[in-house]
Amino acid sequence: MTFDILTLFPGMFSGFFSESIVGNALARGLLGIGIHNIRDYATDRHRVTDDYPYGGGAGMVMKVEPLAACIEEIKSQRPAAKVILTTPRGRTLDHGLARELAAEEGLIIICGRYEGVDERVRELFVDMEVSIGDFVLSGGEPAAVVIVDAVARLLPGVLGCGESAADDSFANGLLEYPQYTRPPEFRGLAVPPVLLSGNHREIARWRRRESLRKTFMTRPELLESVCVTDDDARFIDELRTGGGDGE
Ligand code: ADE
Repeated sequence: MTFDILTLFPGMFSGFFSESIVGNALARGLLGIGIHNIRDYATDRHRVTDDYPYGGGAGMVMKVEPLAACIEEIKSQRPAAKVILTTPRGRTLDHGLARELAAEEGLIIICGRYEGVDERVRELFVDMEVSIGDFVLSGGEPAAVVIVDAVARLLPGVLGCGESAADDSFANGLLEYPQYTRPPEFRGLAVPPVLLSGNHREIARWRRRESLRKTFMTRPELLESVCVTDDDARFIDELRTGGGDGE
């Protein structure tokens, strides 16, 4: 899969994309990332990429011509790629959307600036507007990084054998259960004994219940769209009535 990012600040991406899981996947050729400086597509002497809004008001608006030239050049190489604009007005990114995007051949991600992008960019080129949450960033670059990271880890082969997207928070609609590694005790806090027991059935049950507990405590609305077993339902009832502490 390819990701093409259109930005006024190309320097923001180099560190992030050269490290860790995305950096590794890039080095192994499992995905491609192109960073495109929108300013390179401005044709006037000063390479202007934004201008005052018609009708007045604060801030500047990203101009249509440089973006159009940039998008059209990339599209000529990747006609099937989907064009995304990062904006707080967009559909909020969640695991379901990350999965939808991971099924695309390529994404062309336009990093908008929060004051705005000329509406004709949307009308002519944008397939989907995506927000990463109900807050305002100074620009869409961090949102592009978030989108690439969330989508890339779902691509075949990107996570190593020891890692799994299947256990991620949200993959089954629940938040992830707590994880521990050595030592077995630190400052009086012991690893739950069941995790040291070697009993895989009990470990799976404990993890399921801790996922339910975490979700119940912090994101109870997620429980409404989760497939629950009879055992889950009993445990959720216990949580509701203030129980669910012990086994
Ligand atoms: N640009 C500014 N704020 C944003 C947000 N919350 N999500 C995506 N792009 C943005």
